[in-house]
Amino acid sequence: MKRDFLTLWDVSEEEIWDLIERARVLKKASSEGALIQTLKGKILGMLFMKPSTRTRVSFEAGMYKLGGQCIFMTSKETQLSRKEPLSDTARVLSRYVDGLVIRTYAHKEAEELAMYSSIPVINGLTDSYHPCQVLSDLLTIWEKKESFDFPIAWVGDGNNMAHSWIVVASRMGLHLKVATPKGYEPDSDIVNRAKKAGKGKIEITNDPFEAVKDALVINTDVWASMGKESEAEARLEAFKGFQVNRDLLQYASDEAIVLHCLPAHRGEEISDDIMEDFADVIFDQAENRMWAQMALLEWLLI
Ligand code: CP
Ligand code: NVA
Repeated sequence: MKRDFLTLWDVSEEEIWDLIERARVLKKASSEGALIQTLKGKILGMLFMKPSTRTRVSFEAGMYKLGGQCIFMTSKETQLSRKEPLSDTARVLSRYVDGLVIRTYAHKEAEELAMYSSIPVINGLTDSYHPCQVLSDLLTIWEKKESFDFPIAWVGDGNNMAHSWIVVASRMGLHLKVATPKGYEPDSDIVNRAKKAGKGKIEITNDPFEAVKDALVINTDVWASMGKESEAEARLEAFKGFQVNRDLLQYASDEAIVLHCLPAHRGEEISDDIMEDFADVIFDQAENRMWAQMALLEWLLI
């Protein structure tokens, strides 16, 4: 039976570990010059309703590295723009390609695509979740710390990234502290499900200092996600005090690293100096999108 990857609920803890391990093997083998062609003959369709740099290029490059090919589409270029139902599009594309990545607004569109597709569907970001990014974040933390046994902080918006971190904390038994301004907390259904289902420790606060206290990983993201542009000005005001900067990091562990899924808005959610101090980690994190997704593609498409 086909598997989808719409949220981190779709994979077990063991499968997440397998993906991290396989990503590390692929990364090392590639650095040693090995040619791994496990996806030769496979085609990945990519249907994007929002812009992307990392997700698009890391999936395409990863697919090519493994011997496969990609077809990239925006909704504007397909008959979706002329009201062809997603359910029909899903059944048609399933006849041509071996897997699909969707980036869209409402998460239920990704679910609908998956429901009507006979091939695996991967969530390349919806308004509610960004699971591929969190796979890459886990790989990056493992590379840097070889452990997840410490507090991990999320500072900023209770958005798609925060939601995926909450789910993975529950899946993997992580200690996650999420700090958002009042009114920008993560979705309470997602938080409650994660708290009930998992073995993780998930704390939600409106105090960024409390969240970063003793944390070894500090995670942030833009204050106005794609689709929230009209709220950007109001959010600048609401998120004052939630910038990841030197003052805030004084409360974290001395060994703390900063992660950012990118794109970053320097001077808003992260100060320019902290972005530069942790640039090596943050750009490794961006690179790791590709290795983590190559492992994911092998797992789903073979
Ligand atoms: N982090 C991330 O998903 O970046 P893109 O929007 O560039 O794909
Ligand atoms: N939360 C951001 C992530 C971008 C990769 C957004 O949805 O725009």
